[in-house]
Amino acid sequence: MKALILAGGKGSRLRPITHSIAKQLVPVANKPVIEFGIEAIRNAGVTDFGIIVGDSASEIKEALGAGERWGAKFTYIPQAEPLGLAHAVKTAQPFLGDSRFIMYLGDNLIKTGVDELVKEFDTGSFDASILLTKVPNPQEFGVAELQDGRVVGLVEKPKEPKSDYALVGVYLFNPTIFEAIDTLEPSFRGEYEITDAIQTLIDWGKDVRPHIVTGWWKDTGTVEAMLEANRLILEDMAHSIEGECCDKTMIDGPVTIAKGARVVDSTIRGPAMIGPCCEIIDSYVGPFTSIAERTRVENSEIEYSIVMEDAVIENVDGRISGSLIGRGATVSKTGRKPMSVRLVLGDNSSVVIP
Ligand code: DAU
Repeated sequence: MKALILAGGKGSRLRPITHSIAKQLVPVANKPVIEFGIEAIRNAGVTDFGIIVGDSASEIKEALGAGERWGAKFTYIPQAEPLGLAHAVKTAQPFLGDSRFIMYLGDNLIKTGVDELVKEFDTGSFDASILLTKVPNPQEFGVAELQDGRVVGLVEKPKEPKSDYALVGVYLFNPTIFEAIDTLEPSFRGEYEITDAIQTLIDWGKDVRPHIVTGWWKDTGTVEAMLEANRLILEDMAHSIEGECCDKTMIDGPVTIAKGARVVDSTIRGPAMIGPCCEIIDSYVGPFTSIAERTRVENSEIEYSIVMEDAVIENVDGRISGSLIGRGATVSKTGRKPMSVRLVLGDNSSVVIP
């Protein structure tokens, strides 16, 4: 059994963050989102990984390395253009060869592991396994129509969905999928869709097994979904304080404060995570917030947010909430009059001022 992780694509819905970082590397609970998928697959015993990369190839390679950290072997597979998930699978055919494989979209997160799925598929004789879950907005996903527990139809981003079962970004295939991909035409969005390839398997009478995911699942392709994923991961986090907290600091609920972090005269209300070498001074860090390494928060309040490394938040009036703050970003207040708002924002930035 091999694994194929998709880390190409564009990340347009997460701009401007994705102008400077691949969307699969945006941190959830201070860890690049793609690492959750790698861990889940590795825990299922798979060690031979192909990783599809696009424009951000060098950044992804630098962040993940050759796989030693997971006791695995990573082979990077460049996809010349992001022409769709089926195109990515076809690009990986020389790597995958005759193996059965698990495919995992690098920006997806599922709570339950994949151990059972991998075991079932590895020992079973069916052609594909797909994961489904009920969502309130099925038109934004691939959607499955089920009859008596069997998949009878699959449509990518349908205007009028036949069910509210969305395709989760985890799939298991045998090599028959390559034959199905060879018959595809580009979809309405100009991509070779894996959803259409699976529909072809169904049309050919192949055995495609649906699995309903009961725990949560997130496609972290939007800022809202990213914050929600952060909330869900932090909710399950253990309490651990290795950093330095002064006597006047109040800690409430599950909180992780990493080694080298310093918390002075502040309140940290968990679930919250403070990364290595952060400084939190005279501030409030509220629930569902993760703050990455070397960030300084001073005389400010923040909750329900993701702050990436080396950011500075100082002297901000009011509470920052529901925000995604990029690497090295500064949010501050001018100390003198005129008290105007001064902004240096990248393309596609969004700021809400009360
Ligand atoms: O998240 C689940 C959904 O993922 C499914 O419900 C849909 O059926 C499936 O088509 C897919 O839809 P998205 O529109 O969300 O896919 P996205 O373009 O975001 O790509 C998913 C991942 O695959 C992402 O990590 C980028 C990577 N990718 C994407 C394309 C189009 C590639 O590596 N190569 C590509 O050509």
